[in-house]
Amino acid sequence: MNQRFIYSLLIGAIVLLGSALKPHLVEPTLKSAYKDYFPIGVAVGPRNLVGPEAELILRQFNSLTAENAMKMGPIHPEENTYYWKDADAIVDFAQKHGMKVRGHNLCWHQQTPKWLFTDAEGKTVSKEVLLKRLKDHITEVVTRYKGKIYQWDVVNEAIDDNAQKFLRDSPWSQICGEEFIAKAFEYAHEADPNAQLVYNDYNTERPSKRDRIYQLLKKLVDAKVPIHGVGLQGHWSIYEPGELALEAAIDKFSSLGLKVQITELDVSVYPAEQGGRRDKRPDESDAFTPEMAQKQEEQYRNVFRIFREKKQEITGVTFWNVSDKHSWLDSHPVAGRKNYPLLFDANLKPKKAYYEVVKF
Ligand code: GLA
Repeated sequence: MNQRFIYSLLIGAIVLLGSALKPHLVEPTLKSAYKDYFPIGVAVGPRNLVGPEAELILRQFNSLTAENAMKMGPIHPEENTYYWKDADAIVDFAQKHGMKVRGHNLCWHQQTPKWLFTDAEGKTVSKEVLLKRLKDHITEVVTRYKGKIYQWDVVNEAIDDNAQKFLRDSPWSQICGEEFIAKAFEYAHEADPNAQLVYNDYNTERPSKRDRIYQLLKKLVDAKVPIHGVGLQGHWSIYEPGELALEAAIDKFSSLGLKVQITELDVSVYPAEQGGRRDKRPDESDAFTPEMAQKQEEQYRNVFRIFREKKQEITGVTFWNVSDKHSWLDSHPVAGRKNYPLLFDANLKPKKAYYEVVKF
């Protein structure tokens, strides 16, 4: 054998070996990395479904949630008027590309339409009238997307943040007491008996709120109300939740026989603040430092490790917004303060935190 022959054999072997290994060298995407675990979703508006963001969404995610389009205010602005355009666009996009859709949401105290709680004279409506309105709303919306939306957030954020209180004080609880919660689930189940129905809330890992949510869910389960899951919104930060708190919450809720979804995941680089927007303008103390980035990578690594370990209990993880280019946290709770809570940067490029999530 001459040297040239040996040389070309060697090259051939290297090329073969290279192509055999290639699939492993291709960067994993979120949906491919988690295909044996759970769907990975993202909250969107129609504006995200064109151009480079749409490409990123199709590459990385296999489930969608409407960030705003299906909330009661936007979709049902007047008693006899529904505005379907944006919600339809999201559902159509998902159908076209074989993605799942989570419905968000059917009953909440915010982003509610003006007409809902009052009559023509401006007087507060009775419980009967409000429940009838809730039923009509849920029936109309759930029926429209029957078979296309596999899971609905039926009631959002009904438990108070204050440890001394139970139900959040809202027009729903003032007019109907606790009953609106069970009713909302019953109406949704009647409209689509195959849809999975979820109670969704935030701060679900803080013991006091976790335990009061558990109490509510236990009452619903014991009363045989059609509820199938609990949504942990997952509006977290680089400071919380700790691993033990997250594990304890998932275990506690799933001990009721409910499935758990992480429905609105983001990891703020600032500590949580109580209350609404504050007036403080952003300043240099708000900079995104390398230390914060590192903490964020650790937080993403840890929470996804826990999600994988608990894949029997967890049936989905959804991010709230696509990339750091735009997040609701850019203006909340500090007007104008930029946040960096997601896995893709403002240029839609994967951050280091992304690799902590997909490489395991
Ligand atoms: C809550 C709601 C979401 C969204 C966020 C902020 O978590 O459930 O729909 O409004 O607040 O964007």
